Amino acid sequence: MSAMRHFASAEIGIGHNGNPAKLPVLQPTIGPPMADIRKLYREAGCYAYDPALGQTGICRSAITYVDGESGVLLYRGYPIADLVERCSYVEICWLLLNGELPTAAQLERFTHDITHHTMVNEQLHAIYRGFRRDAHPMAVMCGVVGALAAFYHDGLDIFDPLHRMIASHRLIAKMPTIAAMAYKYSLGQPFVYPRNDLSYAENLLNMLFSVPCEAYRAPAAAARALEALLIIQADHEQNASTSAMRLVGSTRANPYACTAAAIAALWGPLHGGANEGVLETLAEIGTVDRIPEILRRAKDNSDPFRLMGFGHRVYKSYDPRAKVLRQRCYEILDALGQRDDPLLALAMELERVTLADDYFIERKLYPNVDFYSGIIFRALGLPPAMFTPVFAVARTVGWVAHWNEMIADPETRIFRPRQLYTGPVERALVAIDERAAHQPLVG
Ligand code: ACO
Repeated sequence: MSAMRHFASAEIGIGHNGNPAKLPVLQPTIGPPMADIRKLYREAGCYAYDPALGQTGICRSAITYVDGESGVLLYRGYPIADLVERCSYVEICWLLLNGELPTAAQLERFTHDITHHTMVNEQLHAIYRGFRRDAHPMAVMCGVVGALAAFYHDGLDIFDPLHRMIASHRLIAKMPTIAAMAYKYSLGQPFVYPRNDLSYAENLLNMLFSVPCEAYRAPAAAARALEALLIIQADHEQNASTSAMRLVGSTRANPYACTAAAIAALWGPLHGGANEGVLETLAEIGTVDRIPEILRRAKDNSDPFRLMGFGHRVYKSYDPRAKVLRQRCYEILDALGQRDDPLLALAMELERVTLADDYFIERKLYPNVDFYSGIIFRALGLPPAMFTPVFAVARTVGWVAHWNEMIADPETRIFRPRQLYTGPVERALVAIDERAAHQPLVG
């Protein structure tokens, strides 16, 4: 945080007494400066209005940098493409949590720690059995991860960095087991226990796809593809689910409960749920000749339909994650023998048509990470309902890295936004038998 400094004073010409407010401006290590509005009310007598927080920095963070205009994504300063090319997911977890890439000895110890925390308490099996078999796996994950708070609560001191690190390692380690168990439960198949001789990605594939009655070995190409997806989805600064983690965490809530809130946010179709939506959209289009019809709907402002996997709040140029995945997509589909998948041909035609369409060009709507991750998840053999749970596995490290950073930050206070009140002014209560005459009937 030492790189962050005040560098100037901004003047904002508003105030209930006609006096302009003088506010400091904060300079990040890269990116545009930010007016510090914490004293806005005291200085100008008004609050700031920013409903979706699109203009507002909610914290200082040294974890991930996104430049939406130029399509840049850095984890702790390293470009995402380099990390996907040269690092393992577990290495990335260490990097996000600790700020530096691990040495060989650190990585070995960390891998051992993560590998040896992958089992879940057997009691959790009973919790799964309480769900309907057709429950969405994200609903199951919200419940099961929230339930971990009941197993790890007493004795957890969130202000002790060691306790925080143990909770973080547990979450990173157990999330693949929890996601895979949700899948197995939906199929009516036995849960598969984690295996310590496999890599993080291989172990997840094994828990998802193996059955006790026959030998299974995840194809190397599938493990490599999953590893790339996990790295790409590991963090993305103050996205909705990470902000949810921070918001709940700011109340000093149990970290497992905070993670359940983050999972709930990720599930939304405008956030992580979009990868599932991409497949639904492609299935709805069905054939290339129906693309114009679906584009007409996407462009019609009176129709709530949106083309899933396109557009991003921050990226107004190509999503750098999508760029990496796009290159890998063909490679992965070749390796998995699925290059001739007609759905891929449809997806690529949809991509081609939208990139040349004025509506999408003017609004800077490019394919986002979910567009390609949906296709790759399908190639791996996952049903659409499992795309977002695997995204949640990948993003867990981002959530806990931000939670750790927030709890350690002396500037952290409970999140308590303001509102622009639009309800009635104070008024006198009317007795029930007189209400019809005094106020409009509701309902
Ligand atoms: N299809 C059609 N039109 C779109 C789309 C889309 N996917 N996305 C945005 N637009 C249009 C909007 O209708 C709006 O048009 P207008 O200016 O004529 O009113 C304009 O583009 C700007 O869109 P906003 O909704 O203001 O952009 P916002 O930043 O609020 O939304 C979001 C970003 C939610 C990602 C949006 O692009 C969307 O809904 N995309 C589809 C869902 C999706 O793929 N989400 C995954 C994001 S990546 C992730 O979370 C991991």
